[in-house]
Amino acid sequence: MRKKIAAGNWKMNTTFDGGKQLISEIIAGMAANPPEQTSEEMLVVLGTPFITLKKAANLVKNQPQIKIAAQNCYSEEKGAYTGEISVEMIKSTGAEFIIIGHSERREYFNESFEMLAKKVDLTLKYGLTPIFCCGEKLETREAGAHFDLVKRQVEGSLFHLNAEEISKVVIAYEPVWAIGTGVTASPAQAQEMHAFIRKTIADKYGKVLADNITILYGGSVGAKNAEELFSQPDVDGGLVGGASLKAEDFVTIINSFD
Ligand code: PGA
Repeated sequence: MRKKIAAGNWKMNTTFDGGKQLISEIIAGMAANPPEQTSEEMLVVLGTPFITLKKAANLVKNQPQIKIAAQNCYSEEKGAYTGEISVEMIKSTGAEFIIIGHSERREYFNESFEMLAKKVDLTLKYGLTPIFCCGEKLETREAGAHFDLVKRQVEGSLFHLNAEEISKVVIAYEPVWAIGTGVTASPAQAQEMHAFIRKTIADKYGKVLADNITILYGGSVGAKNAEELFSQPDVDGGLVGGASLKAEDFVTIINSFD
């Protein structure tokens, strides 16, 4: 059965000390209010800034349910790319996940389908788990082209993978119009797109494989709406921005699975 995941994407927030503090608060909050699920059934993933990764990985070393994610990586393995961070460097911190293709990176850093495919390949090569983001802008949805776009995003950066490789990928559907806006996709809209993504994967790789892929919803997930979103049959958890920066809210989200 596929794993459920409550993932936080801290984006460009928290200093080194602030990040340590937030992790301590999340660990304490989970100890006070432990999730019903085991770490086999559900994981908590914290997407911290690069500078915090190693400390974060150390802080959660004895917390089997909590893993650490980077928010990006570079699309080349190593070399003369001043200022960039490679997958191997991320792995050396103890982080186990990498968020790839977030809409902010697609939009502000012009990340193409091909570049994201290379990032996915390197992430898998080093044994880390990609959290691959997809999702449409409002104008695309209004034009009725959202299914087509999400299909092209998934195909364009993932469908070169073989079955064993794609089975290791986590997908996050994040409609751009819902990110940081307070406007959440309705549970029905999320379910509809998640089922569509799963069917897109099933059509190429088969239903058994598709049924084992974790598909997260992202876009204004909060303490108040997580339970209803996570109760949808194809919504396996969330990728949470703003609300993941408040330990109390994030612990409530972690405890929102059935
Ligand atoms: P949000 O961000 O929860 O603040 O809307 C989600 C994301 O961008 O991953």
